[in-house]
Amino acid sequence: MRFFEFHVPQEWLQVYEEIATSPGTVLLLGAPDTGKSTLAHFLVYKSTEGGFRTSYIDGDLGQSILGPPTTLGMAFTSEPPANMKELEWDHLYFIGATSPAGHLLATAVGVKKLAERAIEDGAQMVVVDTTGLVAGEMGFELKFYKIELLRPRHIVAIQKEGEVEHILRGFRERKGMKLHRLCPSQGVHPRSAETRRAYRQQRFQEYFRGCARKVISLDTVEFINPELPLLTKEGIDERFNGRLLGLNDENYFTLGLGIWETFDLDSNEVSILTPLEELRGVKYLHLGHISLKVFT
Ligand SMILES: Nc1ncnc2c1ncn2[C@@H]1O[C@H](COP(=O)(O)OP(=O)(O)OP(=O)(O)O)[C@@H](O)[C@H]1O
Ligand SMILES: [Mg+2]
Repeated sequence: MRFFEFHVPQEWLQVYEEIATSPGTVLLLGAPDTGKSTLAHFLVYKSTEGGFRTSYIDGDLGQSILGPPTTLGMAFTSEPPANMKELEWDHLYFIGATSPAGHLLATAVGVKKLAERAIEDGAQMVVVDTTGLVAGEMGFELKFYKIELLRPRHIVAIQKEGEVEHILRGFRERKGMKLHRLCPSQGVHPRSAETRRAYRQQRFQEYFRGCARKVISLDTVEFINPELPLLTKEGIDERFNGRLLGLNDENYFTLGLGIWETFDLDSNEVSILTPLEELRGVKYLHLGHISLKVFT
């Protein structure tokens, strides 16, 4: 077996063997800093190496591995990936926030939509990585209903002291669903809030590096504002300046992100900053919940 940069406990190999006998959707569940993304990498690697057509879903909006923060991402692997961050995404789904709090439904629906797409495109194994939001009512709501929606064949729970049992309890007797319980492996080290913030900023900077100013007519795309859905163009003002935008295609997948600069009421045109070169496929501008400053 290839030498991994991380420690591979014996139990990970056993879990992979069990998953490989019944491939399908695999959902990872655990509190922050329990090693979910590292285990996801291992499972994607083994599954690809094992000859399964494999896709990885990055369900983390803040510590994104695929695409910029505020999006969910999906990527197929053609060969076992040495580094997940180098994978190129195939589809993105814009949520517009760096945490699922306040956007639970959007997050669950987005992950489902990406998983459905992966399966339509022939995935035999879909590895779904998730955020560490599992605690309390909010964690329950997000994860329990995400599992209801996705109906994964395998749930791999990583926990120290039963932190996700309140979610797992509802799936103990489900037909066609297998639960695997693991302890966090040696070598997992927590990341501080500051490290996480710096990572998000770096990912945004990388994404917007080399962006250009583009003009979009609101006669040719729909402007979707989840905060004020009935907004008329007269209601568009400086509040939107600096706001992050999802540039979405006809299927509501996200082709890229933009930053709203200004709006001209007379021409009905928005000026945005985006690294996306080709805007022809953009049918919707979806307003995000956060603002960003970029220096071009
Ligand atoms: N088995 C392992 N061997 C060595 N290092 C590990 C292992 N598992 C995790 N780590 C390290 O611990 C840190 C946290 O791991 P990881 O990102 O996988 O956790 P996570 O549960 O996905 O965190 P988050 O909740 O932020 O998504 C990373 O720096 C990772 O490299
Ligand atoms: Mg993670």
